[in-house]
Amino acid sequence: MKQLAPSILSADFSRLGECVCQIEKAGADIIHVDVMDGHFVPNISFGAAVMKSLCGKTGMPFDVHLMIEDPDRYLEDFITDNTEYITVHAEACVHLHRTIQHIKSSGAKAGVAVNPATPLSAVECVLEDVDMILIMSVNPGFGGQKFISSVLPKIRNLDELRRENNLDFTIEIDGGINPDNVKTVTDAGVDIVVAGSSVFGAADIEARVKEFREILQK
Ligand code: DX5
Ligand code: ZN
Repeated sequence: MKQLAPSILSADFSRLGECVCQIEKAGADIIHVDVMDGHFVPNISFGAAVMKSLCGKTGMPFDVHLMIEDPDRYLEDFITDNTEYITVHAEACVHLHRTIQHIKSSGAKAGVAVNPATPLSAVECVLEDVDMILIMSVNPGFGGQKFISSVLPKIRNLDELRRENNLDFTIEIDGGINPDNVKTVTDAGVDIVVAGSSVFGAADIEARVKEFREILQK
């Protein structure tokens, strides 16, 4: 089943707990947590303390997207009862295989993200080790950017590699997803869809989650 992971980066931070309950009630599956350090990406978002404040407010799993340099230094901070995935960027990890093992030994599923300009060859050697590959469809750092459609062949190639090699990692997409393009990416092989501004920027957030859900169920 395809899943929807709204990104709280675009939520109203002054009422984050309420926003999370609202999307959960409407049928969202996962909370996407965008952590930015102002070094790996040109923006600072929030850290583990903000994420931890949501524990106990929701039963939804956390999908932590670390857009930070030297992620090994902070991994443990993001382990909570809700944490399901911790994803690091291939571009930010000198010893990617070691970092993947570190995530797994911390108790989370390991994801690796690739920027739009990063080829799949950057992660081919670790496909047997990861639980998820996150294909970035915008350059990371900001919500509300336009979907870069040239990543579509990359999704199809990754899905093909997965089938050819009998692997079972999840494919996630992140950036510029809305109800008009979500079917294109799921048809290409995506399992988890991240959506920030198209969910939390909608006039009716619950209706937007339901709209996504209906498309994903088809
Ligand atoms: C971008 C973040 C995304 C962002 C998506 O760097 O990783 O998760 O919140 O936002 P939208 O869906 O608005 O592109
Ligand atoms: Zn993200």
